[in-house]
Amino acid sequence: MHLTALAVSLALLAASGSLASPTLPLHAREVVTVTRTVAGPAATSYDWANGATPDFPIHPSCNATERVQLERAFAETIKLAQHAKEHVLRFGNSSAFYTKYFGNAPTAEPIGWFDKVVSADRGGMWFRCDNPDGNCEQEGKQCFFFMKRFIEGRIISRTDGDIIGWGGHWRGENATLETVICPLSYSTRWPLEAMCGNGYTVAGGATNAYWASDIMHRLFHVYNVGEGTIEHYADDYAACLALAASNPEEAVRNSDTLQYFALDVYAWDVALPGEGCTGKAPEGSSSAAATGSATSSASSSTTGIAGSMSAEASSIIASPTLAEVQTTTSDAAAVSYPHTE
Ligand SMILES: *[C@@H]1O[C@H](CO)[C@@H](O)[C@H](O)[C@H]1NC(C)=O
Ligand SMILES: *[C@@H]1O[C@H](CO)[C@@H](O)[C@H](O)[C@H]1NC(C)=O
Ligand SMILES: *[C@@H]1O[C@H](CO)[C@@H](O)[C@H](O)[C@H]1NC(C)=O
Repeated sequence: MHLTALAVSLALLAASGSLASPTLPLHAREVVTVTRTVAGPAATSYDWANGATPDFPIHPSCNATERVQLERAFAETIKLAQHAKEHVLRFGNSSAFYTKYFGNAPTAEPIGWFDKVVSADRGGMWFRCDNPDGNCEQEGKQCFFFMKRFIEGRIISRTDGDIIGWGGHWRGENATLETVICPLSYSTRWPLEAMCGNGYTVAGGATNAYWASDIMHRLFHVYNVGEGTIEHYADDYAACLALAASNPEEAVRNSDTLQYFALDVYAWDVALPGEGCTGKAPEGSSSAAATGSATSSASSSTTGIAGSMSAEASSIIASPTLAEVQTTTSDAAAVSYPHTE
């Protein structure tokens, strides 16, 4: 290698005679030339970005219409996460939205998770449109997984079920970097432009009503983004608010909390500025039915751009009971949020 470099340098020197100063003696000229050649462009150049995967890989099993919808969904996911990050960077914990969802936790962790959605390398990941695990046709799983989750307190990894069929699922132990998007998603997910439309409210709607939040959730399952650290510690709106007060360390790495926060601040800051569509958890939901402690740093934070959120944030309740969760699930189906997963 060095010999080759030296040979090249000597050849260059002989050919041009212009690399070294003519005022130096001959032996000094040779030394200078060799040094330049070894450090020059002939050496192997390291490109840190070589082999990076900046775009979400869409599997060949996706047809043209699925592909174009997924590309749009990914762009919206990045937009949603980017705004959530910028909201926290701008307002920190002076935002009532921040304290409502993340309590008194430091801001760096949610910023980091949102930034991973925006910019983490997508190497090895696949979004597929076939049905390799045979889960897309399955029905009636949602109740089962809700029950399982609440009986166990929390679960380590969740297979995502749906009342009327599956919108998609993380392949889990079958392929940890792969996500299946089932046909149901293409006919049920809304674009971000529909934020606050169709009767949607953050508190009363499903976190997967929108493509962007649904994909965000699926990315949190994949190690590239969630690092096996983002978990399902609390699921529905009321439970997420309770978690912020009781356990901020888990709130900042709770999948649904991050989604609710992103949706809420996008609605308030971008879709309907200064108004948003936080809403209230529906009657008969765990939020309305449950009673419990309402102590929260969120409820005391009335300053900042979202001061009017304080009343909303003060309705924090304890985690729902199993019976309440089942009620919530059937209500959700009745009020036409069929795409629970
Ligand atoms: C907000 O963050 C500051 C530190 O930057 C901290 O002193 C304060 O307690 C936090 N407030 C809340 C409500 O978490
Ligand atoms: C893994 O594959 C098996 C059978 O192929 C299937 O029953 C199971 O549901 C799959 N797991 C997930 C998380 O999809
Ligand atoms: C692509 O797949 C979807 C199912 O997700 C199907 O409804 C649609 O007809 C397919 N489109 C084409 C062009 O084959």
